[in-house]
Amino acid sequence: MIELEPRQFQCPGYYVRAASTRFEAEGASALRHRVFVREQGIFAEHDRDEIDLIATHLVALSTYAHEADQVVGTVRIHEDSPRLWWGSRLAVDRDFRAVSRLGTELIRLAVCTANARGCDRFLAHVQMQNVPLFQRLHWQPLEEVDFHGTPHMKMQVDLDYYPPCSDPVAGWYHRSAPRPAP
Ligand SMILES: CC(C)(COP(=O)(O)OP(=O)(O)OC[C@H]1O[C@@H](n2cnc3c(N)ncnc32)[C@H](O)[C@@H]1OP(=O)(O)O)[C@@H](O)C(=O)NCCC(=O)NCCS
Repeated sequence: MIELEPRQFQCPGYYVRAASTRFEAEGASALRHRVFVREQGIFAEHDRDEIDLIATHLVALSTYAHEADQVVGTVRIHEDSPRLWWGSRLAVDRDFRAVSRLGTELIRLAVCTANARGCDRFLAHVQMQNVPLFQRLHWQPLEEVDFHGTPHMKMQVDLDYYPPCSDPVAGWYHRSAPRPAP
């Protein structure tokens, strides 16, 4: 029998949508803890803050027999001042990174949702290793900043590439694309 490493496993597809159940909200928060506290050590005990109370939390869910299974990706968005929106806490479970473009899909839902809610400017503090990914997705670097003690790039997205999504709770089903052979 062939044993697959966890990261070689690919779901046929994922739900990408706004968290609307306790299971989704708790899954997002557990994922953030795994990534930002345990893996990256950016926060010592927890990564929650006051923005969580006002933010819209988005999730990517793996599927099993076409049903939503586990929260394997998350990001949050909030309006900081009129028409100025921020995205933060983007995280994809380690075993699901660079397999199905979940980071890309979460960024897409984040910006399209803000666009539908009257956003003129959408910003994020992006970890330096992720700047090329964001640039490919039509984000422009603005300035390097120290954020939570680590260097980040403040970036702004070109909203023209992100059409409004007015029903983020419905979100969409993202079909896995097979990775090209090495
Ligand atoms: C940053 C992060 C969210 C990206 O998530 P992801 O799901 O791996 O993102 P994507 O799959 O959309 O793209 C990542 C890379 O994999 C590549 N990739 C994804 N799917 C692919 C596929 N089917 N075939 C080939 N390449 C693929 C992308 O082209 C991209 O390439 P790059 O490494 O050269 O940039 C994830 O790495 C993560 O959670 N990191 C830890 C936390 C973190 O850094 N958060 C971000 C703070 S700004």
